[in-house]
Amino acid sequence: MAKKTLVEANINGEVVEFLCEPRQSLLECLRDVLELTGSKEGCLTGDCGACSVLVDGRAVCSCLMLGVEAQGKNIRTVEGLADGTTLHPLQQKFLEHASLQCGICTPGFLMSATALLERNSNPTEAEVRYALAGNLCRCTGYDKIVRAVLDAAGSIRSGVKTSRAA
Ligand code: FES
Ligand code: FES
Repeated sequence: MAKKTLVEANINGEVVEFLCEPRQSLLECLRDVLELTGSKEGCLTGDCGACSVLVDGRAVCSCLMLGVEAQGKNIRTVEGLADGTTLHPLQQKFLEHASLQCGICTPGFLMSATALLERNSNPTEAEVRYALAGNLCRCTGYDKIVRAVLDAAGSIRSGVKTSRAA
């Protein structure tokens, strides 16, 4: 077995240490070592976006990044979006617009949309579609997802932050 490396990263606002084999992807480390299973495994080739997380604020396919590359980075996963029982506006709007069916793609869409709205809180529809172009959904089509992101952007701009998770 390959020698494991100790990695320290800030994950969802908390400094954590974990042991990682040199060949392990960040996705594997998140899911199998840290038990953060919100990031989903789809293609493992960078094509579906189901594994998207934020690394220092940028949406990244965690299946294409090595776990050891997380050293010293700020990582955000879908588990870090809600504030306790209060959903993030994107999560709330995905629910309201019925923007998910099986849900496999949803964490990746949420994280790509988060990256977009944190750099541009007033995107055009074209900008939303461009930002989400790396995320594939087999169930919903994309219109409901795009509508949810535009609606969430409006909520964020008007300071509406809260809705209670069930
Ligand atoms: S699982 Fe990473 S892009 Fe599909
Ligand atoms: S909701 Fe099933 S793949 Fe998108």
